[in-house]
Amino acid sequence: MPVRRALVPDAGTHPRRKRFPVSDFTLLGVPESLSAVLAERGITSPTPIQAATLPDSLAGRDVLGRGRTGSGKTYAFLLPLVARLVADGRRTRPGRPRALVLAPTRELVGQIQEALTPLAATAGLTTQTVFGGVGQGPQVTGLRQGADIVLACPGRLEDLMKQGHVSLGDVAITVLDEADHMADLGFLPGVRRILTATAKDGQRLLFSATLDNAIDVLVQKFLRKPVTHEADSVQAPVSAMSHHVLHLSNRDQRVDVLADLTSAPGRTVVFTRTKHGAKGLAKQLNKRGVPAVELHGNLSQGARTRNLDAFHSGKAETLVATDIAARGIHVDDVALVIHADPPVEHKAYLHRSGRTARAGAAGTVVTLMLDEQVRDVRALTRAAGIKPTTTKISGTADPVLAQLAPGERTVVLGGVVLDRPAQPPARSGGGAGGGRNRRRGSGSGGSGGSGSGSGGGGRRGGSGQGGSSSGGQKPAGQGGRSRSGGGRGRSGASTGSGSGSHSPASFSSGRR
Ligand SMILES: Nc1ncnc2c1ncn2[C@@H]1O[C@H](COP(=O)(O)OP(=O)(O)OP(=O)(O)O)[C@@H](O)[C@H]1O
Ligand SMILES: [Mg+2]
Repeated sequence: MPVRRALVPDAGTHPRRKRFPVSDFTLLGVPESLSAVLAERGITSPTPIQAATLPDSLAGRDVLGRGRTGSGKTYAFLLPLVARLVADGRRTRPGRPRALVLAPTRELVGQIQEALTPLAATAGLTTQTVFGGVGQGPQVTGLRQGADIVLACPGRLEDLMKQGHVSLGDVAITVLDEADHMADLGFLPGVRRILTATAKDGQRLLFSATLDNAIDVLVQKFLRKPVTHEADSVQAPVSAMSHHVLHLSNRDQRVDVLADLTSAPGRTVVFTRTKHGAKGLAKQLNKRGVPAVELHGNLSQGARTRNLDAFHSGKAETLVATDIAARGIHVDDVALVIHADPPVEHKAYLHRSGRTARAGAAGTVVTLMLDEQVRDVRALTRAAGIKPTTTKISGTADPVLAQLAPGERTVVLGGVVLDRPAQPPARSGGGAGGGRNRRRGSGSGGSGGSGSGSGGGGRRGGSGQGGSSSGGQKPAGQGGRSRSGGGRGRSGASTGSGSGSHSPASFSSGRR
């Protein structure tokens, strides 16, 4: 008989209470067993958005939460979701989950699941990811087995709803992560239909770093007396993020400058406007010896997963991506974000830039600008509330490059070479889409390993030297450039909450 009440929402004088340290989370009303899961990952003090929203979300209110990028919104919605599901105590019926988290990309869904897994395991709850690009078989099986919490991208979820594999009538808590994006035209019709299918009196939690009036249409129809918490103003950039614009004198310099910046030690995310652009640039960087992987919608899910895993593991320290990676994706110690193409609107600028300077760490953001882009970039940064330092450069000899990305440049002959899977990813059964975590009782929750925080990723703050690199070429394949051993100072917010092992069944965000 599975233990469904492993968690004691209000332990009172229960003797087990003594087993868990009382953290500031407990004082906000988070059950001690869940606070203990966070404490194991070094997380004991709530961030402002967590402190602001938890009392209301735990009390069952509908909440709109805005907090800057990298400020811990994921736990802000996962903690009440798990706590309230357990407190509710109902049994989940096959194909009728009791909680739903919607997010815009498969990668983000997988990443949220990684953060959720240890919490859910402690609470005796099961989870199921649902997204396209992989076989639906394992997802259907997981739903049929009665997954308590579904984490989904809208498209595949609607498919499975239509096919009768899942019904949302029992969903008592719905989370929209990146809510303003989920209210964008592309998602809105599906999101509406999905919300309509959930229990009418259910709780709804909407979170984003840019929670603007795009969400009004959803708020009016689906939320009841929501409370809004803004942990910071939308115009308040993350303070430890420094913003720079490099004004290039001609387009030909673009790849040279990018190759220089990305061959410095540390992780870099480079954003392009198009899939084609991401693919081409990754190729060019590899050609110049910068191990770089691409992430965009033209890749198979297998390639997407493989590439992002390589970025997480440090096999490639440069990720070239479209806006698919702009929202929510967390990789520890990204030191530098480069807008190789300026984004079209300011929200994209904030989200893309937010891949660095997360959880209290520092980070640098560089926008490359050509003459014809001057006006657009000015408008963009102004709308984003950013005052960047603009430098006109004439080539890679400009000393500003070494200031923005300090450390010795190293290259790897041929760039990164990733092993292709021995066989094509399974279309169903054990394939990449499952992410099923059926763990009941108090098991330690598999993938929620201790996360030793191996990714030093030090570009900033330390001496800026390139670790052990000699400046020459390195053998391709393992590790690529070595990074300076942990140089970059994170201001006490290191989480180490990662999973040592990556479940092949889910997109692996590696170190959440
Ligand atoms: N209270 C906390 N103290 C320290 N670190 C935390 C805390 N809460 C979350 N973190 C860590 O902060 C990092 C960023 O969290 P998260 O991804 O939830 O940010 P976010 O606010 O959702 O950002 P984005 O807007 O980009 O989606 C994660 O590594 C997470 O484990
Ligand atoms: Mg997030």
